[in-house]
Amino acid sequence: MKYFTLNNNVQIPLIGYGTWQSPDDQTTVEGIKYAVSCGYRLIDTAAIYGNEVSVGRGIAESGISRNELFITSKVWNSERGYEKTLAAFEKTLSDLGLDYLDLYLIHWPASAHRFENWDEINLGSWKAMTELYKAGRIRAIGVSNFRSHHLKSLMETEIMPMVNQIEFHPGLLQSETVEYCRENNILVEGWSPLGTGRMLQNSELIQIAGNYKKSVAQICLRWCFQHDVLPLPKSVTPERIRENISIFDFEINSEDMKRIDSLANFGGSGLDPDEVNF
Ligand code: A2P
Repeated sequence: MKYFTLNNNVQIPLIGYGTWQSPDDQTTVEGIKYAVSCGYRLIDTAAIYGNEVSVGRGIAESGISRNELFITSKVWNSERGYEKTLAAFEKTLSDLGLDYLDLYLIHWPASAHRFENWDEINLGSWKAMTELYKAGRIRAIGVSNFRSHHLKSLMETEIMPMVNQIEFHPGLLQSETVEYCRENNILVEGWSPLGTGRMLQNSELIQIAGNYKKSVAQICLRWCFQHDVLPLPKSVTPERIRENISIFDFEINSEDMKRIDSLANFGGSGLDPDEVNF
């Protein structure tokens, strides 16, 4: 597995194993064990996914030493602010059965349509993340679903975010956010890189995939990677888990990259960080 290097020099694998909508049971334990056997080293979960105990069991049973794995989790919206974020981190670590995290993210920004003091709330969460990072409990810290206006005041603190995890797939390039992150040396990770499966029926993507003798899923993930965005595909199906990591033996040419870039938004979740009510 090759790596991206974060702005604090920590190395992060080029692709990760997503677990959103993976159940808190043996399915997820087996999925993680299989993913690790296929070469995945980054496992992405979150407190709100409700599966951290099973993710932790999968990690423990994977047969790979902890320091070869890169484990990410996220603090949920109900736990925003300094004190609650510190407590949420301890609960996540205990559920996962780990003694440190590789990456911890603020799951969604507090934003102006719900909170007058949204910036202050985000800064409170960030202060907790920063302290945990400086204490060596987390190797890298970041955010998820933040736009540039949410990120700005965090950039002026002692430690700037290393990662922003956003929804990213054909039809949803989020150019303004991606450009801002690139300029500020923040790695972008893509959640739902297959549009939670909605990409797979698109006729244009099916045609392009045929030309490369690859699946539509592989085209979406490779397209993501060629945009320097780290894809986090979720699957609990062995053949798909293997298929999704097999994207490093071909390249999408620039003409096809542009063709995919120009697809209309046909499979987005519709979740807007400035509008969501959770
Ligand atoms: P499953 O977990 O049952 O295998 P995303 O990562 O965009 O959220 O997409 C996840 C969804 O896409 C899940 O429903 C997953 O199903 C399905 N999926 C993941 N990889 C593939 C693949 N290679 N081919 C078809 N469907 C896939």
